[in-house]
Amino acid sequence: MQEILLKSGSKEEIYKSLLPQIEALVAHEVDTIANLANICGALKQAFNWWWIGFYFVKNQELVLGPFQGPVACTRIAFGKGVCGSAWKEKSTIIVPDVHLFPGHIACSNASLSEIVIPCFKNNEIWAVLDVDSEFLNTFDEIDAKYLAEILKFIPLV
Ligand code: SME
Repeated sequence: MQEILLKSGSKEEIYKSLLPQIEALVAHEVDTIANLANICGALKQAFNWWWIGFYFVKNQELVLGPFQGPVACTRIAFGKGVCGSAWKEKSTIIVPDVHLFPGHIACSNASLSEIVIPCFKNNEIWAVLDVDSEFLNTFDEIDAKYLAEILKFIPLV
């Protein structure tokens, strides 16, 4: 297996070197859990964010999937928190300060900013990727763009 090799540089440069490596990592594996676990690991290695993980849409709620970081809430209702809102709105949500997001679910008090990106298959959301930072204002449109690109690499059978 090829190790993830990281370049130093701007956030965009790191994403640009990371993207083809993640694409290669997941391209020949059909097991979704394995791929999501490796995506979390690669993102943790590249950016060392506080918490990186997936929630699956299961029976009308979100259920915790593969992640890197401290233990987290296992279930999130439709429309609740940042994750449930991204699912309901079918769009990426960037939260510069979680204290200013009404209904934010604090799995950890250390988390101060957050981004949630929906994973689509045939226009339906089957999971969300949630990333938390222990710093304010960590995420922007660059993260939204490249994280969404990464999610498109996941082979969906
Ligand atoms: N903060 C999220 C909950 C999940 S944890 O951050 C891992 C939310 O408001 O949906």
